[in-house]
Amino acid sequence: MKSVVITGATSGIGMATALELSARGFQIIGTARTTEGAEKLAAAAAERGVELHTILLDVTDPDSCRTAMADITDMTDGGPWALVNNAGIAVPGAFEDVCENDAWAVLETNLLGTARMTRLALPAMRRRGEGRIVQMSSVAGLVAMPLNGWYCAGKHALEALTDALRREIAGSGVHVSLIEPGFIDTPMLTDGLRHLPAHTRYETAYAAMRRLVARRGPLGPEVVARTVAKALTAPVPRRRYGIGHEAALGRLARLAPPAAVDLTMRTVLRLNRS
Ligand SMILES: NC(=O)c1ccc[n+]([C@@H]2O[C@H](COP(=O)([O-])OP(=O)(O)OC[C@H]3O[C@@H](n4cnc5c(N)ncnc54)[C@H](OP(=O)(O)O)[C@@H]3O)[C@@H](O)[C@H]2O)c1
Repeated sequence: MKSVVITGATSGIGMATALELSARGFQIIGTARTTEGAEKLAAAAAERGVELHTILLDVTDPDSCRTAMADITDMTDGGPWALVNNAGIAVPGAFEDVCENDAWAVLETNLLGTARMTRLALPAMRRRGEGRIVQMSSVAGLVAMPLNGWYCAGKHALEALTDALRREIAGSGVHVSLIEPGFIDTPMLTDGLRHLPAHTRYETAYAAMRRLVARRGPLGPEVVARTVAKALTAPVPRRRYGIGHEAALGRLARLAPPAAVDLTMRTVLRLNRS
């Protein structure tokens, strides 16, 4: 049975992916930061009638990463067949509204945490001459959206680091894919919109952002889970898997003249009135 480690499997996309892949016959090791989170994941698996293992992991803590990977190595055939780097946080807000500590937390979790786990998983995959790494990026890794700059910065950096890694390890038997979802209905999105900074010059823009997401009607996390399954089961996985309307728009924005993209985003988010 092929083993898959999924970081941040206690909610949203990570949990949906753990349940989907377990139902498809993979050996799943889902990570949680707390025992309560691990219990929540185990309960969701029991309810779905699937089996999985849980393990404690905080990707911002190098010791926690090393300990978790040592345990995973014992639970699997010397290391996981695949790693899904899903754990992530968002600190939405305009550049002027986000403090340095919050900015650092986003980069530490979404970029360095992902790099840390990838580095720990790679040696066994290389020895085996086979493996998959799936990075949970975002449309925010394709195009920089206002009011979410640090999150976009982290995802852009993840895209760059992953492109570099893929080119370095091509031919090793280890495949790396980026998943690029648009808005997905998870606690990250709903909590993020609920906790946007208050009493700032960007209030009109934040209200426009809330309306925009509500109007679009975000997709459920199961769509992303099925896409991760594709990246793990395709004989030769794609480099990138875009998901949803916003991902298509993100690709378009990369080709469009920057002035047109600036104007569109400023108009849609009512930044001209902020
Ligand atoms: N929702 C979207 O619209 C969207 C769109 C594109 C990409 N994504 C990406 O999808 C991934 C999952 O996000 P989600 O929307 O499913 O959010 P979510 O429901 O908030 O799940 C985030 C998961 O990451 C875990 N996590 C956070 N910090 C961690 C850390 N330091 N160490 C280990 N685990 C940690 C959380 O654990 P706790 O339960 O302990 O907090 C949780 O399990 C993220 O990488 C996100 O950037 C989301």
